[in-house]
Amino acid sequence: MNVLDLFSLTGQVAIVTGGARGLGRQAALALAEAGADVAICDLLEEEGQRTAAELAALGRRTFFGKVDVTRTDEIEAFVKQVVERLGKIDILVNNAGMPSDGLALDDEPDDAWRRMLDTNLSSMFYFGKRAAKQMIGQGQGGVIINIASINALVISNITPRHNVPYCVAKTGVAGLTRGMTADWAQYGIRVNAIAPGYIRTAQTAASRQYPEIVERIITNTPMKRYGVEEEMKGLVVYLASPASSFMTGSLVVMDGGTTIW
Ligand SMILES: NC(=O)c1ccc[n+]([C@@H]2O[C@H](COP(=O)([O-])OP(=O)(O)OC[C@H]3O[C@@H](n4cnc5c(N)ncnc54)[C@H](O)[C@@H]3O)[C@@H](O)[C@H]2O)c1
Repeated sequence: MNVLDLFSLTGQVAIVTGGARGLGRQAALALAEAGADVAICDLLEEEGQRTAAELAALGRRTFFGKVDVTRTDEIEAFVKQVVERLGKIDILVNNAGMPSDGLALDDEPDDAWRRMLDTNLSSMFYFGKRAAKQMIGQGQGGVIINIASINALVISNITPRHNVPYCVAKTGVAGLTRGMTADWAQYGIRVNAIAPGYIRTAQTAASRQYPEIVERIITNTPMKRYGVEEEMKGLVVYLASPASSFMTGSLVVMDGGTTIW
């Protein structure tokens, strides 16, 4: 097979959580451009509808669902709707996530800790389990991509913000990715995680207000810049497609070199 054909997703059905904007929107556009029908969900209704219109303009079947990824009832209803409307699920991108409040651990409220772990880690289990059950039932395998972070490998070194609850959640995402691999490889489901470095999205907007933090990140990044959200597209299609057919359980870093030091 010609190598470029290995990247085709024609006939596949994908879900992208947090697909309304940022990296999730780019992931959804990339999967659709590669040929997949793509359902997206998010808390943000207006932006979600706008992104769904962009996906439809590519000639793909698509719809937006308002889902809080910490609510298992809402996830269950959305997964059911995807199967009813698009026929099956082949690909899940667990992307929805929230930024850290930047507080030191000694000041972190217990509720904020719980919310972080539920939103950035447990949601990927809630969604992954339900999508995997559907994939197992279909009997054709599938692909799950969990969006982790370089903070799955290192604690954020942008003093005075270390964002520890966020880092712990993302470290959990790397572990969950290996765990899903262990349990679901037997069904032909490949599970990989992406570990982006610092990318210019709404998530990094708060910390980008501090010139000293921006300077520190640029200094620590060999490529001397933040990533832009479009740089997510190639890796998502690679991991979602047969081009990566022998890859599972991996955490793939995409960070302009920040973690080489
Ligand atoms: N931007 C970065 O530098 C960076 C680096 C590493 C990892 N990431 C990860 O990439 C993913 C996407 O982030 P982004 O940078 O595009 O930020 P973003 O804020 O633009 O996108 C996150 C999306 O998730 C949605 N979301 C948040 N909580 C949700 C919930 N409970 N239910 C449903 N949707 C919810 C938001 O509404 C938003 O649309 C996140 O998991 C984030 O942690 C981002």
